[in-house]
Amino acid sequence: MTRGLKLVGLLVWLSTMISYAQEQLPFLNQPNVLNGASPNAREVEGLFWWVIGLSVLVLLVVVAFLGAAIVRGIQERNLTDEPPQIHGNLALEVTWTAVPLLILAFLLVLTVGSIYRLSGFAAPEEALEVNVWGQQFWWEFQYPENGVVTANELVVPVGRPVKLNLRSRDVMHSFWMPQFAGKTDLVPGNNRAQWFTPEQEGLYYGQCAELCGDSHANMRLRIVALAPEEYAQWVEAANTPAQVSSEQLVQQGSQLFISKGCVNCHAVQGVNVYNRVGPDLSHIGSRTSIGAGILANNHDNMVRWLRYTDVVKPGVRMPNLGLNQEEAEAISTYLSELTLPNVDIAAFIGEDKLQQTNEENTITLQAHVLGGN
Ligand code: CUA
Repeated sequence: MTRGLKLVGLLVWLSTMISYAQEQLPFLNQPNVLNGASPNAREVEGLFWWVIGLSVLVLLVVVAFLGAAIVRGIQERNLTDEPPQIHGNLALEVTWTAVPLLILAFLLVLTVGSIYRLSGFAAPEEALEVNVWGQQFWWEFQYPENGVVTANELVVPVGRPVKLNLRSRDVMHSFWMPQFAGKTDLVPGNNRAQWFTPEQEGLYYGQCAELCGDSHANMRLRIVALAPEEYAQWVEAANTPAQVSSEQLVQQGSQLFISKGCVNCHAVQGVNVYNRVGPDLSHIGSRTSIGAGILANNHDNMVRWLRYTDVVKPGVRMPNLGLNQEEAEAISTYLSELTLPNVDIAAFIGEDKLQQTNEENTITLQAHVLGGN
C-alpha cells in the first residue's frame, strides 16, 4: 500500500470516528464546524481537511525519518569510535526550507480563494438581505425586503442565498453559525457582511464568538431554515399583529406589560412598534427559545426569566422589575399568546427535533439558584 492510500485510509477512519462520536455524544450536536449545512460551511470544512491532511503527512514523514535514525543508531551502535563529524548538508537544508514554503504557499492560495468567495461582497445578487445588529447580549434581525424585525432567531428560506449585514450597537461581537459560515466580527462603526445558502430545513445553532461582557457565553442565536412556501407564510404572519384572547389573566398580563414599563423597551406590533431598546416581542410566543437562545420557550422558564433575569443572564441590560410570582405569571401568559397568526413554527421544525435540541442546547434553571420559588 502506498503512503497516499494510507493517508486516505486515515482520513476516512478519522471522519468515521467523528460521525460515530456525534451520534454517541449529544454535546457534539451543539454548533459544529464538521457537519456543514451550506456550501459556504463546507468550503471552510474543506480547508480544515486540507490543513489536517497536510499536517498528518508532515507528521508521518518526520516520524519516519526519526524512527529510521533511531533504528540505525541502535543497529550501528559503537560506543568506542567517535561518530562521523558533519558540517551541514546543503541539499537537505534547501529541501527542508523549500518543502514547508511550498506547503504554506499552497494553503495560502486555497485560503485566499475561500476568503474571497465567502466574503459578504461576493454574495449573489438575488440574496435575501438581513441587517443584523449585535448588542449586549442579543441579536436583532431586520428584513428590509419583507418589513420584518425579529430577534435572536434568524428565519431563512432554504435554497436562497442570505446576505447578512453585520453591525454592532455597543462593543465587538462575532457572529458565528458553525454549520453555515465562518465567524465574522461585528465592529462598532464598521459594516461587515457574510453570506450563506441554507440547504436543508431545520433548527440550527449559533453563538457570539467574541468576548463581549459578562454574558458573552449566553449570547446565542438560532437559525430556523424553512421551505420557501413556509418562509412566505412566516413573512406574512410576521407582518401581522398577534391576536390575544380576552381571558382575564391574559388581559391582566397585557396591562402589566404596559404599567410595569416593559413596553418602554420592547416593541409589540399593535401596541408600540417604536421602542426597540430590547428585542422585538411581537411574536415572542412563536419563538423556540428565550433569553437569546439560552432557555427553552415555556411558561416556567419565562416566569423565572421575568423575575430573575439578572441571575439567569449576568450583566443583562433588562432591569429587575421586582415582579412577584403572580405578576410574572400573568405577563408570561400574555407573552405566550403573542404568536404568529396561522403559522406554527414548532410544527415546521418538527416537535421531536425541537424538544431534542432544547434538551441538548439550553440551560437548565436550578430552583435554588433562583431563590427557591
Ligand atoms: Cu457578544 Cu460575545
